Amino acid sequence: MTGSYPNTRLRRTRSTTWSRALHRETQLTSADLIWPLFVTDGEGVEEPIASLPGVSRWSVDGVVARAREAVELGIPVVALFPNTQADKRSDDGAEAHNPDNLMCQAIRAIKQACGDDLGVLTDVALDPYTSHGQDGLIDDGGYVVNDETVAVLVDQALNQAEAGADIVAPSDMMDGRVHAIRMALEMGGHHNVQIMSYAAKYASAFYGPFRDAVGSGGLLKGDKKSYQMDPANGDEAMREIEFDIAEGADSVMVKPGLAYLDIIYRARQAFDVPIFAYQVSGEYALIEAGAAVGVGDRDALMMEKLLAFKRAGCAGILTYHAPVAARLLNG
Ligand code: PBG
Repeated sequence: MTGSYPNTRLRRTRSTTWSRALHRETQLTSADLIWPLFVTDGEGVEEPIASLPGVSRWSVDGVVARAREAVELGIPVVALFPNTQADKRSDDGAEAHNPDNLMCQAIRAIKQACGDDLGVLTDVALDPYTSHGQDGLIDDGGYVVNDETVAVLVDQALNQAEAGADIVAPSDMMDGRVHAIRMALEMGGHHNVQIMSYAAKYASAFYGPFRDAVGSGGLLKGDKKSYQMDPANGDEAMREIEFDIAEGADSVMVKPGLAYLDIIYRARQAFDVPIFAYQVSGEYALIEAGAAVGVGDRDALMMEKLLAFKRAGCAGILTYHAPVAARLLNG
């Protein structure tokens, strides 16, 4: 006990605007936000994504315009995801390491336009490139094979680094991939390319709109439970995070976000490494849908949730609300 009534009245410091500002424990700024962007083929193309209201796929020129917008808004990083054309998807996802794929075109164009004013984060996983929608290579039974997949992910990560990616973010959940990617980056002279690993990524029901956005949803048969984590497990998440740090991750991610705040908090207590949350597509869509049916004010719902990630211990948040939130935060 630190006090008793009426010596202590906790409402005193809450009673005015200035006092609430003075005592606010958590700050959210536009520099905490990472903006995920979907890239598609063509020029001057914008394709709205029905299940993600307010979010579109853009051709490379449009993605560059969004990147310039990010810089203006004080958003430090954009995360890129490609919607690969159907005829470029294959069983082995070989398009992932084509030096002229959509991702690489977008990376080069953004780095040329924005330079060091903006970080480019790229997703390392095969699902936008495979004809079966899984994140890795599959055997005859449809099982995603680990070590063979890691070898391809290494090629993919190197391909992105060579195009100019600043942060590679393996989202595939294969064992040992962070170590393999770190070694390859070092050997390739990419000493300053960061790895933000999707360390604790759950087999979640909240990824649906994302799979629509990258065009893998209709292709995916079965689920991803043999590599993504069981939502029932927390101790295992600590082991995943510990491994990825030991293997050479500069920062780690917990995904999805709000349903896993306990994991973020536990990781914050256990490890001295920057932790990021991915507020995923389904979470974003639920806020938009809730606001649309009158649950509450969209901006207020959005800000309360983003703030929760910072309070739980996050260094930053990947969120489709990044530009809207940044605009509000910048006044
Ligand atoms: C691909 C990947 C996924 C997301 C990010 N990278 C989907 C999945 O694992 O099926 C989900 C992001 C979101 O839902 O916003 N490996």
